[in-house]
Amino acid sequence: MNVKIAPSMLSADFANLERDLKAVEKSGADFLHVDIMDGHFVPNITMGPDQVAQLRKTVSIPFDVHLMLSEPLKYIDQFADAGADIITVHVESEGDIQTCIDAIVKKGVKPGLVLSPDTPAEVIKPYLDQIDMILIMAVYPGFGGQSYIAGTTRKIKECRKMIGDRSIDLEVDGGINFNTLKEVVDAGANVVVSGSCLFKGEMRKNMERFKEIIAE
Ligand code: DX5
Ligand code: ZN
Repeated sequence: MNVKIAPSMLSADFANLERDLKAVEKSGADFLHVDIMDGHFVPNITMGPDQVAQLRKTVSIPFDVHLMLSEPLKYIDQFADAGADIITVHVESEGDIQTCIDAIVKKGVKPGLVLSPDTPAEVIKPYLDQIDMILIMAVYPGFGGQSYIAGTTRKIKECRKMIGDRSIDLEVDGGINFNTLKEVVDAGANVVVSGSCLFKGEMRKNMERFKEIIAE
C-alpha cells in the first residue's frame, strides 16, 4: 500500500513558519496537516481561515484541514475558500454530520470524518459511500506531543475492514513516531500524521526515516 505522510504544522516554529513549511514541502510530504482548534471543542486555540489562506500562498502541497470546532458547519465555506483540499469534521461535534459532508462537497473539497479515541468505528458506517477520508485520533485532540493510545490499533483494523474496496484514505493522527509508525501502517492506515516527531531536528532526515520504516 502506498502510504502518505502528512506533517502536522502544529509543531512548526510559528516565528519561522515559512522556513518550516518550505522544509515540509522539500522533504516530499504528501499533505500539510492543518489543525484548527476553537478553544471550545478542544482546550486549545490555533488559527482561522485568514491564516490558512495566507499559508496557501507559500505552500503548494494539498492542505488536509482537521477541524476541531464545536460548530464546524459555520466555518466550512471559509476554510474551503481559504484553499483546503480535504476538510475533516469530528463526528462528536455539534450539528448534523450529513449537512457538514454536503457543505464540504458543495465547495468542491474532499470530505472526511474524524473519530476521537472514545468514539466507536461504527458511527462512520452510514457515511462510508460519501467520504474520502476517515481520520482516527490516536490521542485526545487538542495538543501535539502526546503518547499513542494503544487501543487505536484495533480501531484502525476495524475501519480498514469497513472500508473494503472503497477508495477512502484511512488517516491516523497523534503520537506517531519512529516507534509507533510501523504498527499503525501494518494495521491498515495509509495516511499518517506526525507533528512533534517530524519537526524535531531535521525534517528531511525524519521524513527519510519514516519512508524507510514504511518500506520495511
Ligand atoms: C492533535 C492534533 C495533531 C497533532 C499531532 O489534536 O490533531 O495533528 O499535531 O501531534 P503529534 O504527532 O505530536 O502527536
Ligand atoms: Zn490533527
